[in-house]
Amino acid sequence: MISLPGLIDVHVHTREPGAVHKEDWDTATAAALAGGFATVLAMPNTQPPATDRTTFERTLALARQKARCDFGLFVGAGPDNVNAAAGLADRAAGLKMYLDATYGPLRLDDMSLWMDHFAGWPKNRPIAIHAEGRTLAAAILMADLFKRPIHLCHVSRKEEILIIKKAKAAGIPITCEVCPHHLFLCSDDIGRIGSGRAEVRPRLAAPTDRDALWDHLSVIDVIATDHAPHTLGEKDGADPPPGFPGLETALPLMLTAVKDNRLTMDDLIAKMHHNPRRIFGLPEQPDTWVEVDPVAEWEIRPSDLHTRTAWTPFAGWRVRGRIRRVVLRGQEAFLDGAVLSPPGAGRSVR
Ligand code: NCD
Ligand code: ZN
Ligand code: ZN
Ligand code: ZN
Repeated sequence: MISLPGLIDVHVHTREPGAVHKEDWDTATAAALAGGFATVLAMPNTQPPATDRTTFERTLALARQKARCDFGLFVGAGPDNVNAAAGLADRAAGLKMYLDATYGPLRLDDMSLWMDHFAGWPKNRPIAIHAEGRTLAAAILMADLFKRPIHLCHVSRKEEILIIKKAKAAGIPITCEVCPHHLFLCSDDIGRIGSGRAEVRPRLAAPTDRDALWDHLSVIDVIATDHAPHTLGEKDGADPPPGFPGLETALPLMLTAVKDNRLTMDDLIAKMHHNPRRIFGLPEQPDTWVEVDPVAEWEIRPSDLHTRTAWTPFAGWRVRGRIRRVVLRGQEAFLDGAVLSPPGAGRSVR
């Protein structure tokens, strides 16, 4: 048995309020604990989105009642909430800016709005950004112009990781995350998964993009799941929404990669605990750890998952490394498949 610090997932869609048929704070944080995560940072693209004091506090109140692990909440950048958002900076995990099309209503097209938020949001508080391809290059330019750190979400392509590497070398204050699905899946997998189910933003990329992420692991600060559950009815329907659940498969996939010598255990702990904690300024959780059986081999089965939608693009994959126990601030929170931490046990990180 080996012991890891409580993992931190900086990119989770809990879906509550507004879409609890997909997930809620209870099931999302149960899935987090089952996956070895002791803290989740939740995205603001809910219904309504968390963009002002009322919607933000209402969502946080739900989290306080229902979360089984520790949590933070991003405030969403909208077209007319620069001051309202900045006023929540001390309470928020960070500001989330959607600069390209994805699921939900939050999207900023006009670069003058980006500049307003860059100027308004406190420099010592994180900004997380959804930006792909050339939009990502424009976001990096803005980090340089405003001399302020930004965190780039779910980097998926070779051209993106290469420009991030260049920008970091030039001293531009950027960090980035990559999701397990972009490390382990590519466009070759879409037929097997099914085209509706395989919808995700950023899309599954070419094999050369996937390989470039592995070739530039040292440029990747964080492994984040972008846990984005939708029901199978929705995924198999006429207009499939993008997104995969990921909380319960991330650590086993990464442990399997450690076994295969694709990264070290120290890399895993840096990208799933230390770097997320540093980038987002999160408190250390005392008496919190994850016990893993590193040699247990098992098959990923949708029926074993705690996430409400209970499907995964990794169904049937054999992985090595099983999460046996999670202790959260001294309390046994997960043991051999059972989530023991009750709703309301989670604490806010701010
Ligand atoms: C996310 C969602 O469903 O909320 N979907 C996705 O494909 N990643 C939105 C996002 O993170 O861009
Ligand atoms: Zn996104
Ligand atoms: Zn997301
Ligand atoms: Zn630590």
